[in-house]
Amino acid sequence: MDDFETTRSELKAAIDAAASREALEQIRVAALGRKGSITERMKGLGALDPDARRAAGAALNALKDEIAAAIEAAAARLSASELQARLATERIDVSLPVRPEPEGRIHPISQTIDELVAIFGEMGFTVAEGPHIEDDFHNFTALNIPPEHPARQEHDTFYLPEKPDGSRRVLRTHTSPVQIRTMLRDKPPLRIIVPGRTFRNDHDATHSPMFHQVEGLVIDKTSHMGHLKGCLIEFCRNFFDVEDLPVRFRPSYFPFTEPSAEVDIGCSRANGEFKIGAGADWLEILGSGMVHPKVLANCGIDPDEYQGFAFGMGIERIAMLKYGIPDLRTFYESDLRWLRHYGFVPLDVPSMVGGLSR
Ligand code: PHE
Repeated sequence: MDDFETTRSELKAAIDAAASREALEQIRVAALGRKGSITERMKGLGALDPDARRAAGAALNALKDEIAAAIEAAAARLSASELQARLATERIDVSLPVRPEPEGRIHPISQTIDELVAIFGEMGFTVAEGPHIEDDFHNFTALNIPPEHPARQEHDTFYLPEKPDGSRRVLRTHTSPVQIRTMLRDKPPLRIIVPGRTFRNDHDATHSPMFHQVEGLVIDKTSHMGHLKGCLIEFCRNFFDVEDLPVRFRPSYFPFTEPSAEVDIGCSRANGEFKIGAGADWLEILGSGMVHPKVLANCGIDPDEYQGFAFGMGIERIAMLKYGIPDLRTFYESDLRWLRHYGFVPLDVPSMVGGLSR
């Protein structure tokens, strides 16, 4: 059995010397595989006489088990040392400072909407929304703007292609159609604000074909002009964060409110410096009024029983005033430097208790 012992010691030496699990696998196949050296010897047993076969068979089986066990032990040893090697190369110093990551910013429009929601939310308003593509009824007719009304021209409406029945849908020119949708859908009392996109065919330093408005609507049995004034004065002082901000209500006209008022806030332009607050000048920031009885009736609400007020303002405009942003067009240029300068830190969520903006 010299040959046997040689095979045994050669295999054991090869297993001890194997530097990887792939090398071990090759040794296993060469010895125990279908055509492996031990397997071939097993096949040769048939030619021996019974006694010799039993003795040789037992020895071969023992050798086979021994080699298999040696390979297994070597594999365990190798994988332990492979793991140690990986742990050594992938070592991380957890005491190092974190790498600065590129930081996102909240766009001033989103920030301003969040602030509006925080202020009006505190007063009990909820947020409503409506479609950007409107029909004539919701954008104009139900708001007491009949066909041929001059307000239709003033709105510089974007029209969609005519439908087979001759009607044309529009990109909503204001958020007021959501007043109509809300009154048609829900029963009063109602208290909603509607922040959203609006569209007018107008483009220069102070006008963009797409801009944002926020609408407000209150309908119940008792809200009157005094509530309108109180609500909007409170809003202006909170939003601009000026406690004694002068707020002026100036008679105006909108087809869907009667009486109507435009709201101005005090400001000063002394020494070429613009400042919001008590001063010699006024700045118009929003339109408002008591909801017109015809509008209530158009929505199936009895104007002898219900009344209320509405208001609407441009979000870019109040954002520009509050944050000193000089050009409207920059809002939509997606210039990262602009966004880094005028944007807001994502984790500073505006709230009436935590502060609106920092
Ligand atoms: N919809 C008006 C506009 O776009 C604003 C407004 C809303 C005025 C509600 C009064 C009441 O100019």
